[in-house]
Amino acid sequence: MIKFADVIVDLQAGDTGKGKVAHSLLESETKYTHVIRYNGGGNAGHTIYHNGQKVVTHFIPCGVLYGIKSVIGLGCVVNVDKLFEEIAYLENLGFDVKNNLLIDKRVHIVTNEHIAEDGSENKIGTTKQGIGPAYRDKYFRIGTRAENIEQLKPYVFDIYDLHTSKEEYIILFEGAQGFELDIDWGDYPYVTSSHCTVGSAILNGVPPKLIRKVFGISKAYRTYVGAKNFEGDDLLFEKIRELGNEYGATTGRKRQVNWFSLDDIIKAININGVTDLVINKIDILTELNVFRIYYENDLYDFDSEDLFKYFITYNLKSLCPTIETISFSDNPYKIN
Ligand code: IMP
Ligand code: MG
Repeated sequence: MIKFADVIVDLQAGDTGKGKVAHSLLESETKYTHVIRYNGGGNAGHTIYHNGQKVVTHFIPCGVLYGIKSVIGLGCVVNVDKLFEEIAYLENLGFDVKNNLLIDKRVHIVTNEHIAEDGSENKIGTTKQGIGPAYRDKYFRIGTRAENIEQLKPYVFDIYDLHTSKEEYIILFEGAQGFELDIDWGDYPYVTSSHCTVGSAILNGVPPKLIRKVFGISKAYRTYVGAKNFEGDDLLFEKIRELGNEYGATTGRKRQVNWFSLDDIIKAININGVTDLVINKIDILTELNVFRIYYENDLYDFDSEDLFKYFITYNLKSLCPTIETISFSDNPYKIN
């Protein structure tokens, strides 16, 4: 049975440091038994520093680094060859993937044709991982599911088993991409083809009542990778890109940079019911000594990190009823 579940959700356009948060939660006192990835596929690139070693994954949830059962949930799509490459890569680094990876039988397959199609027909600047075509075929009801792939048999299971087991399970859901790339809530058509909200976690058959905490992750500025024009003229954005190493983990593309938007964060917090907000990479702004925030069509410029934090904390406290804690990088600001 499932005792409870916590959810990690990216509140911006991906690349906010979800991996880092997952990592610290898996080292916290909560004894998670499962990590479930709830959306996306090879488009995601999770960079994790595990005991000083850099590990980059695309499909496999980070639970395997801890020997915890790691589930590719039913909202995900998987390319079989690339998945096996990733299994080999992680096994080579010494992680036990074979005994910990589980794939829900309903997961859809990204074929090589999907990848080729995505590579040729690409107006919005996708990652060319076949994501759009694979989800299209799923919804057109002509897709192939994991349960039909012989090679995947050792890993395939039914996620409903989590409910029927006598053992008590504690789940950590980790999402890919982010709220601004959500197929519905994002800036359509500059979005991905999956759901990137807490709703996507619930779709795995874990009902809302069992969700304990929702960790919303953002950066102290924004980034976006793709074809739309997102970055303004500010020369500081180039500096932020260099200092923050804002290049795609999957494609190596430059991430476009812009200032933090309080309006966008408020919306993402409210839609996802975020209880714990983590704002990463504040140190990049500290290094530049520039702290700016968009709010209600104005750009505010703050003299200090403390004023920047205070402005965010003060406003979110009054505007977002679900929020319980806000932390900036590793520097926690309790607000209750
Ligand atoms: P797709 O998901 O490959 O179809 O790409 C759709 C849009 O989402 C493009 O703008 C991608 O750059 C962006 N995108 C997809 N996955 C990620 C991610 O993990 N991080 C950041 N951007 C992403
Ligand atoms: Mg990423």
